[in-house]
Amino acid sequence: MLSGKHILLIIGGGIAAFKSLDVMRRLREQGAAVTPVLTRAAEEFVTPLSVSALAGAKVYRDLFDLTDEAEMGHIQLSRVADLVVVAPATADLMAKMAQGMANDLASTLLLATDTPVMIAPAMNVRMWEHPATQRNATRLQDDGVAFVGPVAGDMACGEFGPGRMSEPLEIVAAIAAHFDGGPLKGRRVLVTSGPTHEPIDPVRYIANRSSGAQGAALAEAFEAKGAHVIFVTGPADCPPPAGVEVLRIETAQQMLEVVTAALPVDVGVFAAAVADWRVAMASDRKLKKTKDGIPEIAFAENPDILKEISSLTQGRPRLVIGFAAETDDMVAHATAKRARKGCDWIIANDVSPATGIMGGEENAVTVIDAGGADTWPRMSKKAVAERIADRVVSYLAATPF
Ligand code: C5P
Repeated sequence: MLSGKHILLIIGGGIAAFKSLDVMRRLREQGAAVTPVLTRAAEEFVTPLSVSALAGAKVYRDLFDLTDEAEMGHIQLSRVADLVVVAPATADLMAKMAQGMANDLASTLLLATDTPVMIAPAMNVRMWEHPATQRNATRLQDDGVAFVGPVAGDMACGEFGPGRMSEPLEIVAAIAAHFDGGPLKGRRVLVTSGPTHEPIDPVRYIANRSSGAQGAALAEAFEAKGAHVIFVTGPADCPPPAGVEVLRIETAQQMLEVVTAALPVDVGVFAAAVADWRVAMASDRKLKKTKDGIPEIAFAENPDILKEISSLTQGRPRLVIGFAAETDDMVAHATAKRARKGCDWIIANDVSPATGIMGGEENAVTVIDAGGADTWPRMSKKAVAERIADRVVSYLAATPF
């Protein structure tokens, strides 16, 4: 329920504006008060009269309206609400927000507000995928703006793909979740992270260059959305984020045991760089140089944790996400890996040394799910984590158990 909550709803100029009428109706049904704001372009799609009637309140449209300014100045208007929601958030409105422009009432309110902001983007798939919009989305996420959607689907323009506004019920659920401790409150999310260390003898081990940065950022993003995060980490450089349950392991076999014991979880994110092989007969004594020459090391295959969890018939997480670190033909290899492992999503990234991704601050990923491949621009690992967490929220909201 949203009783006592006040939502400032900014309606942008897109065909999805008609859905915002339903959003208002449902917000009011749940007890919220709605103050609507229309951009000039929005008035081409919905009329001020219908908006005002459904909101049961005055509609604000003009930055320079003397009556409005006398009643409630725009600075005051930007701060009356508990949450500012932009639906539909057009590419233009997102660009203005990302740049900090303030040349109409909507953009001025968004720049002046000290209230949390949530946006529901809606635009043509090409516009959503354009690097400029993707840059703006990343910047807004870094600025703390919450996203609901967009989702993939048929568009009014006849095309198909991501860019469609989330359904009113999903938007209202995201708003309710915002006031209720985050959209993932009550969910258990498991994240594996870091390298594993596979012992050769008591002092030597086989490891890899994973810093654990992407895994730690993911755990932090899920925690910030209210999830109970179980963070299963190998010996990583990056410290675990605050507020998560940390379970430390060294080897792949220990990781499998700890992950299995942590089930059930709603979402499993397997970001660890697990060693595929361990030393078959790790020595319990330090290997010494001998006259017999260099020791031979025999390997044994490690359990594939992602594959084992994906193929559980009982207790499988609702959503299993794997990572694919590739150096060539990334999308083809990662798509095959998704099928081989049986997970729902694969987050593929190019870890060729020239990219500087392994051990670096940034990541450039392609998300592969049943619907195909979605390539994101290069951004910070933190921003990648936030976008993945947003995508998880949308998935869980749209996929009833
Ligand atoms: O097969 P590959 O190592 O490329 O697969 C990568 C994905 O599988 C990652 O999500 C990684 O965390 C997971 N994995 C695993 N257990 C292994 C090997 C990889 O969970 N033994």
